[in-house]
Amino acid sequence: MAEIIQQLEERRARAKVGGGKKRIDAQHKRGKLTARERLELLLDPNSFEEWDMFVEHRSTDFGMEKDKIPGDGVVVGHGNINGRLVFVYSQDFTVFGGSLSETHAAKICKIMDQALKVGAPIIGLNDSGGARIQEGVSSLAGYAEVFQRNVLSSGVVPQISVIMGPCAGGAVYSPAITDFTFMVKDTSYMFVTGPDVVKTVTHEEVTQEELGGVDTHTSKSGVADFGFDSDADALENLRTFMNFLPLNNREEPPEIPTHDPPDRREPSLDSLIPGELGKSYDVMELIYKLVDEETFFEIKPEYAKNIITGYGRFDGQTVGVVANQPKVLAGCLDIDASVKAARFIRFCDCFNIPILMLVDVPGFLPGTNQEFGGLIRHGAKLLYAFAEATVPKITVITRKAYGGAYIVMGSKSLRGDVNYTWPTAEIAVMGAKGAVEILFKKEIEDPEKLKAREKEYQEEFANPFKVSSRGYIDDVITPNNTRWRVIKSLRMLRKKKQEIPWKKHGNIPL
Ligand code: HXC
Repeated sequence: MAEIIQQLEERRARAKVGGGKKRIDAQHKRGKLTARERLELLLDPNSFEEWDMFVEHRSTDFGMEKDKIPGDGVVVGHGNINGRLVFVYSQDFTVFGGSLSETHAAKICKIMDQALKVGAPIIGLNDSGGARIQEGVSSLAGYAEVFQRNVLSSGVVPQISVIMGPCAGGAVYSPAITDFTFMVKDTSYMFVTGPDVVKTVTHEEVTQEELGGVDTHTSKSGVADFGFDSDADALENLRTFMNFLPLNNREEPPEIPTHDPPDRREPSLDSLIPGELGKSYDVMELIYKLVDEETFFEIKPEYAKNIITGYGRFDGQTVGVVANQPKVLAGCLDIDASVKAARFIRFCDCFNIPILMLVDVPGFLPGTNQEFGGLIRHGAKLLYAFAEATVPKITVITRKAYGGAYIVMGSKSLRGDVNYTWPTAEIAVMGAKGAVEILFKKEIEDPEKLKAREKEYQEEFANPFKVSSRGYIDDVITPNNTRWRVIKSLRMLRKKKQEIPWKKHGNIPL
């Protein structure tokens, strides 16, 4: 028996070194951790249960039958993050460049199937040269098997991708289907076709970093949600992030007890809105003053900065916050902001996370650029996502709420549960200047008259009382008491149940 156990230990030891010391050193030299080192940082100590450590590929082409490494380039299993179950796969670049073979894919699929059965998140640490070239179509089919499971798991368990090395070709589509994508600066990149193909087809000269590095995907394309400085930084942040999420769509997110009093008043909020018309302020200040212990996890902080999305807690409960940022583009809704907020709201709705909308929006961004780009279709995504959501929905209008943007940003008529305004709110079809220029076209030659009309309009609509007299909002609240009012509403909505008509699935304007 002792001999057999000895053999087992030897086999385990061999599997654990993956592609060998030379390749591990090369991985370290690039500032990257190995697949197993990453799992050690991500998971609670001693919680990892590895599966399929001895799986080998079955390929016989290109002399591959002589080149087998146990585990076949991916470490899979389950473990805990802060005591809660997650399933993980971590690709091992030291083994055939982490490339995906038929058996490598089967290992990933096995844990994805199990995660779905038991209702636990799936986390993929991606570091791979893509489809295993020697295996041809079998590896392509392997990707398809993973994609299929990504789709079936979508909205059932949270799925997170961390890109920690190359991610090219069809390989990028699994991360693209998952809920959140983390990247690591300088070592990770994602593209469908690499710089060489780009050069051949379009004659553009572009580096890997420019084409698919962190900056590109977090600020230009919006493909990735975050860029972190190192593997360790990304994994530490992922552990924090997971605390905001439920394990699956039938559970509530975990509640984290807080010492922050639910009825804490913030007198400084009474003067947050500048007295001067058209002056901006930083909505992040409002968010930090509302949430528990000034803790807020922003999603896509570098993308479409005219809208803020992220998770905070109120009275210990996870809440998804969507806020117009008056500091950027005056908080206008454009294509990117609409898509960013729509996707965020849909995740919240899938996973029982209440939504708080903080509104200060002058409207949708005008211009041919936006219209030709399909602002109608993309803006409709946000409208659709909010209208469809059945989780608790609370809205606070701090200042401007004009036109279609007022409706889209959490209005009562789109099944908002609790709609508050501050006394500084202005709710109207459009801003005063634009409105009087249309209504009083004939007086346009007379600036004095027009100014008087503008003042009249401003006095009529630059207050929340007209709209509250119609019941479109539930109360005008004192800014310093906003946190308490939101928490009381969340408590009231705790057992909210709302149905949508039976359907196979809706047809969101993609
Ligand atoms: C088999 C691969 C491989 C692959 C890398 N390797 N990619 N083996 N299949 N796809 C092996 C290399 O042969 C090498 O083996 C080791 O991994 C490390 O690779 P290097 O090239 O030495 O590393 P580096 O210089 O860092 O370059 C990494 C790389 C490059 C940029 C990822 O290897 C590369 O371009 N690989 C091919 C990428 C690609 O085109 N993949 C197919 C994408 S299409 P040794 O033994 O020397 O250490 C695709 C379709 C999916 O994925 C479709 C889904 C529907």
